[in-house]
Amino acid sequence: MPDKPAIGIIGVGWVGLVSAACFAELGHEVWCRDIDTAKVETLRRGEVPIYEPGLRELVGKNEARLHFETDLAPVVEHGKLLFVCVDTPPTYSGDADLSRVYAVVNELPASGDHAIVMKSTVPAGTGGSIKWKLAEMNKTSLSYVSNPEFLKEGSAVQDFMNPDRVVVGANGDAIWSGDAVAALYEPLGCPVVRTDVASAEMIKLASNAFLATKISFINEIANVCEEVGSDVKQVALGMGLDPRIGPSFLNAGIGYGGSCFPKDVSALKQLAGNSGYHFQLLTSVVEVNELQKRRVVNKLKKHLGTLIGKDIALLGLAFKPHTDDMREASSVVLAARLQGEGARVRAYDPVAEDRAKELITGTEMCDTPLDALDGADAAVIVTEWPEFAELDLEKVKLRMKSPVIVDGRNLLDAEKVRAAGFVYEGIGR
Ligand code: UGA
Repeated sequence: MPDKPAIGIIGVGWVGLVSAACFAELGHEVWCRDIDTAKVETLRRGEVPIYEPGLRELVGKNEARLHFETDLAPVVEHGKLLFVCVDTPPTYSGDADLSRVYAVVNELPASGDHAIVMKSTVPAGTGGSIKWKLAEMNKTSLSYVSNPEFLKEGSAVQDFMNPDRVVVGANGDAIWSGDAVAALYEPLGCPVVRTDVASAEMIKLASNAFLATKISFINEIANVCEEVGSDVKQVALGMGLDPRIGPSFLNAGIGYGGSCFPKDVSALKQLAGNSGYHFQLLTSVVEVNELQKRRVVNKLKKHLGTLIGKDIALLGLAFKPHTDDMREASSVVLAARLQGEGARVRAYDPVAEDRAKELITGTEMCDTPLDALDGADAAVIVTEWPEFAELDLEKVKLRMKSPVIVDGRNLLDAEKVRAAGFVYEGIGR
């Protein structure tokens, strides 16, 4: 294999595109395939269809090394390592929908030179099932590697280039391809964990499920803090200094969202259930998360009484800052609940407005935070965009009908906001 082998990427969604741009930055020719013709056209014009810090610049800088195709043939012709980055959304049963993964497996030619490198998040055991499928189709010469991704939206480029670890799962029959995938990450200088395929698959699901558990745990602590008068931010600080606990993912709020945690927690719970094990803890993690999104409504009622006819401003809509991703965003449930209670909802998000419009109906989208706050009976911070912490509180107060702020992400300095004459409600403070 040449020094910098060409790479194939199948599926240029968020994971595929970030991986493609970063591999190109590391000096590889990257051949990408997506079945969405419009997306491929957009990328060929040099435009990036998602918002991810640094991605547009990286795609532009490496334009000459990035090739976007709707056909699989040129990708297979140029790349030996074929990264599968198609989406695996949840089905109604909570299982991961692997139809797109299998569509790729069906389409790939039998070849001893090529390896399927699975980056899509799949249940443990999928690699084994794919090997069976390959045998059925007389494609046993295709090698199989699991290489789960741990990127966070909003810092994906940074995460790719500075990983905590890379996991490469390959069974005994696929050692050459495991070595080749591990070698790609060598320039990044991070630990590479080599495992069998099923363990690599489980590392991914277990990591996300553990992080989601950490969030639901601190959210429940926050709810107890509200009852007993403790401040969850101080509690999290004191807990997090214990290296066995660690400070990250202890921010209480109105629940986790996004395309990963809800899907992966449910997939792991379902995987356990399908094999006869009831994963009690994850069942509670999901339940706590759902209830957490709804707590804001009671906080508003505490100060406003009925919400019928009240104007509520939502600041932030994306599932977290620095992304326009609206998948499983708490704002969707919240807006619907507020409207169900008879409130009028106005909202502002610096980048997610277009995507939000597809999911949130009956809500007026505003161009600035102050427009959303105009005449509002209360404001809810749904996403912790840094610009909300910079708002001029005097101006905010002048715009609002009544100065009530529910800070769903504990973004603001409670004392400062109260001193400015607001009624302030955080989460667990
Ligand atoms: C998550 C994982 O963090 C990544 O490691 C993983 O690669 C990715 O899923 C994936 O499987 O693809 P992501 O969904 O982009 O990444 O976002 P996170 O930053 O992890 O946040 C997830 C949710 O948890 C957000 O809604 C965030 O607001 C919430 N959160 C996070 C909290 O409520 N509290 C916290 O302390 C941290």
